[in-house]
Parts: sequence; structure tokens; C-alpha cells
Amino acid sequence: MLPASTKYRPFPSVDLPNRRWPNRTLTHAPLWCSVDLRDGNQALAQPMSVDEKLEFFDLLVAIGFKEIEVGFPSASQIEFDFIRRLIDEDRVPDDVAIQILCQAREELVTRSCEALRGARRVIFHLYNSTSPAQRRYVFNASRADIVRIAVQGTEWVKRDGEALVGTGTDLRFEYTPESFTSTELDFALEICERVTDVWAPTVERPIIINLPATVEYAMPNVHADQIEWMSTHLSRRDRTIVSLHTHNDRGTGVAATELGLLAGAERVEGTLFGNGERTGNLDLVTVALNLYTHGIDPGLDFSDLPRIREVYERCTRLDVPPRQPYAGDLVFTAFSGSHQDAIRKSWAAQAPGAPWDVLYIPIDPADIGRSYKAIIRINSQSGKGGVAYVLEHEYGFMLPKAMHKEIGRLVNDLADATGRELTAAEIRDAFIHAYVEPDGPVVLDRFRTTELDDAVRCDAVLRVNGQVHALAAEGNGPIDAFVRALVATGLPLFDVLSYAEHSLGRGTTARAVSYIQIRTNRGATVFGAGMDTNIELASIRAIVSALNRVDRGVRHASA
Ligand code: KIV
Ligand code: ZN
Repeated sequence: MLPASTKYRPFPSVDLPNRRWPNRTLTHAPLWCSVDLRDGNQALAQPMSVDEKLEFFDLLVAIGFKEIEVGFPSASQIEFDFIRRLIDEDRVPDDVAIQILCQAREELVTRSCEALRGARRVIFHLYNSTSPAQRRYVFNASRADIVRIAVQGTEWVKRDGEALVGTGTDLRFEYTPESFTSTELDFALEICERVTDVWAPTVERPIIINLPATVEYAMPNVHADQIEWMSTHLSRRDRTIVSLHTHNDRGTGVAATELGLLAGAERVEGTLFGNGERTGNLDLVTVALNLYTHGIDPGLDFSDLPRIREVYERCTRLDVPPRQPYAGDLVFTAFSGSHQDAIRKSWAAQAPGAPWDVLYIPIDPADIGRSYKAIIRINSQSGKGGVAYVLEHEYGFMLPKAMHKEIGRLVNDLADATGRELTAAEIRDAFIHAYVEPDGPVVLDRFRTTELDDAVRCDAVLRVNGQVHALAAEGNGPIDAFVRALVATGLPLFDVLSYAEHSLGRGTTARAVSYIQIRTNRGATVFGAGMDTNIELASIRAIVSALNRVDRGVRHASA
């Protein structure tokens, strides 16, 4: 039993009767800032080594981030050294700003500026905690005390930053009232206004006001209200970039960010795949690709998501879960038969260059470097179409549509028996064993045809349950002649209902594959399949295959 609900309180709503954000749509990408190397890194059981950070930094640059928070240099020597290497080894492209985090303490500000000496573009990110709980339990400080800390911190950044600017650094400033979403709005506004007074931004050089959901306590609509309230109350809005920084404690970090952008924010901080404390930071990949699938260029390049994931997993020692949007192993996979059917049909109808309209697959996997291969996977819930899809797309067997049901049931039975997903190779083996290379009882030992004036003669040696039959007959073609010859064996008589063939492979290794559907005089309808380098022999083998399946009393043969 859960404890009584009185243990928790509802989250207060925002009084915003004329809220505008619900009527807006997103039309362009925000400014992006990766905090992988700071917020993400500090949440790792084993933080990244300097070499791993360098590799990760290069990855972020390659993706297209122009603002990258690279650490908290006053808090640890490793972070300091890493930032020095970035600058001393000239690893930061001209158009990329490195961002560092710092608390509002004088010695830390001074040390941070030392770490940044010689950098081309810098965002100095200052923060202090502002929520009532932080003020009461952690700092035992009044509102005025907290404002004083922020103002003083900003003054120190201004003072020490002058040396950086004097040596050519393009210095920008970001202020975060930490735990913004748990802070009274009027107080968050007051502290941001006082900090802005000190920094004195211009339209050309705006201040970044970062409004974090340090812990996500509220629904995304409340977050949006908080952002819209701030965005419309900041007095120098034209000189302010409003930045979002959501965490994911309620699992709605992405939604909160998207609604926060509707509410007026221009910038988004987050991490790849949502690494970060507890439930993580905002997943930048998801927000960016959500924009992309609505026709908005995110300005970030995720065209090789598998490689990005590989570097991420190696450097963070974290796994991307199989259901992670866009990146997870299973997100382009359908097991359900009806989904598979819809995917196959809509995929076949998808014209090159036309707007994407494939059912159940919201993005073309090719756009993010994913393959189509694993889209349809087979377990006992899968449908006949899925099995045929795997045989065709993985191995080139183009089974006639009427055969799908029969092979589908065969493979479903196998999946039921194994109680697990079947690999493509297992499906192929099941098909080959049941149709192309059956164990008998009917075995073709020899087959030859001779062209006569107006007929074809066949000579064949067949074994049925070990008994050898030497057969000969004439017909209007090889199949007809063979069917006539079979009468002497005592095998059930049958009519050929349908026949299809195609080649498999090219050049000297090419083989013909034939599919034949027969109906016996006892009313059973079954398919057979044969494969051979010789097309004539492939069709004869298909008949033998069908006879073997009749003999097994194929459960799926319709009577
Ligand atoms: O989550 C948070 O509030 C932070 C700030 C320091 C930006 O990471
Ligand atoms: Zn954070």
C-alpha cells in the first residue's frame, strides 16, 4: 500500500490567464548548448578521462554545437587541465564558444578566469541556488542575502573577465537561478533583474538567463507558464536570451523543453541521450530530431546516430536503452503482424522524394544512419507478411503472396516452440529445411528432358520412402511430363494451381527459385519451392518439395 497522498502536495499553478504558448507552434531551431561534459559528466559513476572528454568534445563539435559547457574548472584540477588542453592545443573551432560553470565565490571566479586565459569565445556561467528550500535548509539565507551573492558574483566575473576581454576573448555571461522552477517567480525575476543590472547587456551582446528545472516537479504546461511569465516580465527582454535547462525526474523533460520553447525561450541546454543526474538531463537528440520530423532543420547533424551512440556509450560507460527515441535498438522494429503489414504496404507506396508517410516509423531510418534491415522482426506474435518480408529483404526469396500464410504459420509454430524471437537466419533455415531441402520421403535422384517434335520427354529417378522408381513420360513441357510420370509412383495425383519463379544472385553463382502450388485429388493445397542453377530443375524440385509437404500432412494445407 502506498502511504496516504497527504504526504505530497500539489504543485502550485501559475496565474497566467492570457498565456500565449498554447496557440503557438515551433518554426525554427533554438540555440543549442551541450552540457555533456559538465552536468552529464558529473553524474557518471566513473567520470570521463581527459582523453575521453577530448574525444567527446570533438564529437559535439562535429554534430554542430556552437556552445559547449566544458566543465567546472574551479572545482577540480582535471576539469581545469582539460580546459587548458582545449585552449593550449587550439582544439576549439573559431565559431564555438566554450562555457564554464562557476559558483558565486570570488576565488572560484578568479580561478575560472585563469582556466579560460587565451580562449577565443567564452560563456561564463554563474549560478546560485534560489528556491525557498535551498535558502532555508542549505544556506540559511534570506532573499536579500541570495540576491547579494548573485550580484557580487556577477561583479567578480565582470572584474576578472576584463583581463580576458583585454587579451581578445569574446566573453559572454550566463546567469542561472538554480532550482528556478521551485523558486517563487517574483523572486526569480528580482534576482535575474539585479544580475542583469550589473552585467549591463546590449542588444548585440545579450545576457543569457538560464531557467532550470533543476529537479522536475511540475507538469510541462506549468513549466511553460513559468517560462512565459519570466519571458514576458524580464525588463530587458531584447537584451536577454532565455535559456532552458530541464531535468527529467517526471519523465517529461523533452515535453517541458518543447513547451518552454513555445513559451518564448530561445536556447536549450541538455545532453546527448539525456545523460545527467538521477533521471538525467534533457535529451538533446530527441528534441532536435522531433523538430526535424516536423520539417524544421535543427542545425545539428545526427545523420550518423549509430556512431554518435558508439562514442557516447564508450566514453560514458552508459547504455542507450533499446526503446530510446531514435537511437534505441528496437525503435525501428515491429514484431506485431498488423504493424508489419502496415509498414510493408506504406513503405512500398512511399515515392522517392515525397513527404515521409510510412506507418509506425516516424522518421526515415536512413536519415539518421540507421538501417532498414531490422525493421521487421519475428516472434510468435508476428504475421505472415513479416516472415515473407524477412525472406525477401534479407535473402532475396520473393515468395508468392498466396504462400505467405503457409510459411507464416510454419515460422510462427517454430517461434512458439522456441518461445523467443527468431533471427533472420533461423527463418531462412526453417524455409530451406521445410521447402528447398526437405528430408524426404520423396527424393529426386535424377531428372533429364529430351525435346521431341511436339512434346517434351522426361526421364527421372525418384525415391519414395526408400523405394526407387525409374520414371518416363511425355508432356507439353518439363513440368507436365514430370507430373504425368509421377502417376506410376502411387503418390497422390494433383493439379498445378500456380507457378512462379525468379533468379537469386548474379553471375556464375546465380540460381533459379521456383514456387509451385498444387492441389491433390484429396483436396489438399500446398506450396513447394525448389532451387537450382538450372531453371527447369528448380521447378521439378518445387514439385517434389510440394509432394513432401503433402506427405507430412502439412497442417496448413486447406482441404
Ligand atoms: O540543473 C541545474 O540547475 C544546473 C545548473 C547549475 C544550471 O545544472
Ligand atoms: Zn542541471
